[in-house]
Amino acid sequence: MLQAITLTKKFGQHTALHALDLTVEKGEIFCLLGPNGAGKTTTVNCFLGFVTPTSGRALVNGIHVTRQLREARRHIAYIPETVMLYPHLTGLENLTFFDTLTGNHYEEEYYINLLLEAGLQEDAIGKSVQTYSKGMRQKVGIAIATAKNASVLLLDEPTSGLDPHASYEFSHLLRRFSEEGRAVLMATHDLYHAREVATRIGIMKNGRLITTMEADAVDHYTLENIYMQHMRTV
Ligand SMILES: Nc1ncnc2c1ncn2[C@@H]1O[C@H](COP(=O)(O)OP(=O)(O)OP(=O)(O)O)[C@@H](O)[C@H]1O
Ligand SMILES: [Mg+2]
Repeated sequence: MLQAITLTKKFGQHTALHALDLTVEKGEIFCLLGPNGAGKTTTVNCFLGFVTPTSGRALVNGIHVTRQLREARRHIAYIPETVMLYPHLTGLENLTFFDTLTGNHYEEEYYINLLLEAGLQEDAIGKSVQTYSKGMRQKVGIAIATAKNASVLLLDEPTSGLDPHASYEFSHLLRRFSEEGRAVLMATHDLYHAREVATRIGIMKNGRLITTMEADAVDHYTLENIYMQHMRTV
């Protein structure tokens, strides 16, 4: 599970995160919404240890990220908005390479299945990644994250670049992760996708989590209204 306890991050004079308190339990899919600059990526990056909090704590399965960074990262899989891969290697070679770095070692068949599950078309698996579209690279990133078998998933606009069908398939994958008891924190701008896949939704603005709700409690129209209402008020 994930816990932010009065998590605060200042960049110079600017406070990007104001004493954030947030818990994402096992099996929960928590979607963070909010305008550009709200602090979504900063939140995710504190859990990853990419950003060191000014005060407060980020815990991953009870592990203090700043104090035990390596241990905390063993529990985390991460999909960023733009997945970085080796352009001269194929999708399959990239997946195998990155997964081997985590200490895993599976048969080729297993990796091929993960790529197919992530929605990569079969004929692309053996082609070099420099020929891939953005969405195809994203699918390799999804397969890399799945292979790690981590109990916590941190996702920062993971569906950016995915076509509607791939995004739909991705929702299925996230639900499976949730059923397996993993905790998922996803920053996204996609209200529709958030409502569809989340168990809980939070709206951030100016570094604060201004409201949270159960995803079941709102339909898409209501969520959009709540979101717009919060954007109008200071
Ligand atoms: N490395 C940095 N140095 C200085 N300021 C930063 C840095 N990273 C983020 N910020 C600032 O922190 C605030 C929050 O940024 P953050 O990237 O967390 O927003 P976000 O909610 O992810 O936005 P977006 O929807 O555009 O991705 C912004 O005002 C941003 O300018
Ligand atoms: Mg961001």
